[in-house]
Amino acid sequence: MRDMVPADVDAVFAIEQAVQAYPWTRGNFADALNNGYFCRVDEAGGEIRGYAVLMPVMDEAELLNIGVAADQQRRGLGRAMLLEMLDLARGKNMIRVFLEVRASNTAALALYRSAGFVEIGLRRGYYRNAGGGGDAITMACRLKGEIDGQA
Ligand SMILES: CC(C)(COP(=O)(O)OP(=O)(O)OC[C@H]1O[C@@H](n2cnc3c(N)ncnc32)[C@H](O)[C@@H]1OP(=O)(O)O)[C@@H](O)C(=O)NCCC(=O)NCCS
Repeated sequence: MRDMVPADVDAVFAIEQAVQAYPWTRGNFADALNNGYFCRVDEAGGEIRGYAVLMPVMDEAELLNIGVAADQQRRGLGRAMLLEMLDLARGKNMIRVFLEVRASNTAALALYRSAGFVEIGLRRGYYRNAGGGGDAITMACRLKGEIDGQA
């Protein structure tokens, strides 16, 4: 994986549109880059296969987006990218990574659970604005230490 640069946004957006039910816009990716979020792409043979965006907030972070090209899914790429983003956060001394996932997104839920995320909340109707409706599950992954067994 390498850092995403503005020239990658078209290719990333093409994947996003193909694989996400409610895709980010080009502008969302451009904003993430401009805001200094951790934006990474997986590239092989000059082709972008996947991407992930992590927003740092003090000593915590929020995984805002992760996607793998449709013809590259189910080969371990999503897990490898997710684990790399967690390593990146760990390397920046972050304590926890959060994320919101659509309750109906069984593939993503299974991926996150397998990487050590646990469910810490349910937000009903979270995706009602431009998200087509549906509940969100909030998940957290603790990167270091334990506080009373909490995630
Ligand atoms: C979620 C996503 C990133 C997973 O990427 P991937 O490269 O296919 O995932 P991996 O091959 O690394 O699989 C990791 C685990 O995820 C789960 N998983 C992935 N695809 C799955 C599917 N279609 N059904 C059920 N579980 C699935 C499995 O637990 C899998 O582990 P296993 O292969 O050992 O059983 C990919 O499906 C995707 O881009 N989806 C659309 C975008 C999206 O929903 N992003 C998350 C919300 S922002």
